[in-house]
Amino acid sequence: MRIEGKVAIVTGAARGIGEAIARRFAREGAKVVLSDLLASGEATAASIRAEGGDVLFVQADVSKTDQVKQLIQATVEQYGRIDVIVNNAAVNIPGSILDMDEAVWDKTMEVNLKSQFLVLKYGVPEMIKAGGGSIINMGSANSFVAEPMLSAYVASKGGILMFTKALALDFAPHNIRVNCICPGWVDTTINDAHAELFGGREKVLESIADFQPLGRTIRPDEIANVALFLASDESSAMTGSAVVPDGGITAK
Ligand SMILES: NC(=O)c1ccc[n+]([C@@H]2O[C@H](COP(=O)([O-])OP(=O)(O)OC[C@H]3O[C@@H](n4cnc5c(N)ncnc54)[C@H](O)[C@@H]3O)[C@@H](O)[C@H]2O)c1
Repeated sequence: MRIEGKVAIVTGAARGIGEAIARRFAREGAKVVLSDLLASGEATAASIRAEGGDVLFVQADVSKTDQVKQLIQATVEQYGRIDVIVNNAAVNIPGSILDMDEAVWDKTMEVNLKSQFLVLKYGVPEMIKAGGGSIINMGSANSFVAEPMLSAYVASKGGILMFTKALALDFAPHNIRVNCICPGWVDTTINDAHAELFGGREKVLESIADFQPLGRTIRPDEIANVALFLASDESSAMTGSAVVPDGGITAK
């Protein structure tokens, strides 16, 4: 019960890393609002509830102002406060900018980066009212190192790293810590389209040790461990930091 009683929002929580974080937070005693574009987030929430978790699902596109406002409002109506926000939702649309529609670039920036601006613009006032909090933005190893055919995604993730640091400075006087997590390859659907450009997921996995020195994919629950640490008071001295569970990618 490392975050007992805290109220947490996790975006992009219908599946993958966000689901693992929401599940872990609920097991550790938090009240969790799962949010996602996908209606299947309701089933994810129901399965966490079946384990005894106190959770709410709010369907929202976090790149849209009105839907973000509704997410914050629904959270406060249900649980009365906000202590933790995990900005996890993202898309990854690979390709060279020479073939990329402008709309793809805009969508990547809106879902990956602007969504974090929106959720925090409307969520942080509630954290200030609560006397402080912890914000966790989901970056990537691509916040530090690039990969071929991934320029829009990499640009958005690099932006998240510096956005995190800037907000850490702005919100420190409010007792709000802001950190980011920068994972390596976690085996979720977000990587599939990129892997297809290089022969498919199975083929790319055969040579995983070439780019991820631990030689295996990372499990979503390994990222949830880091999120739990950052959400809890165990990380009380940390703000403006990037925690990098990347299997060694950025060591090279
Ligand atoms: N899987 C990896 O290897 C990896 C590595 C580094 C960073 N990340 C980051 O981890 C986070 C989670 O990704 P994942 O691996 O679990 O992928 P995923 O595709 O399984 O999960 C992303 C979730 O975000 C949701 N989403 C997408 N657009 C949305 C929108 N506009 N509004 C609300 N929700 C939206 C999706 O529906 C999905 O449930 C992302 O920020 C991703 O960039 C993943």
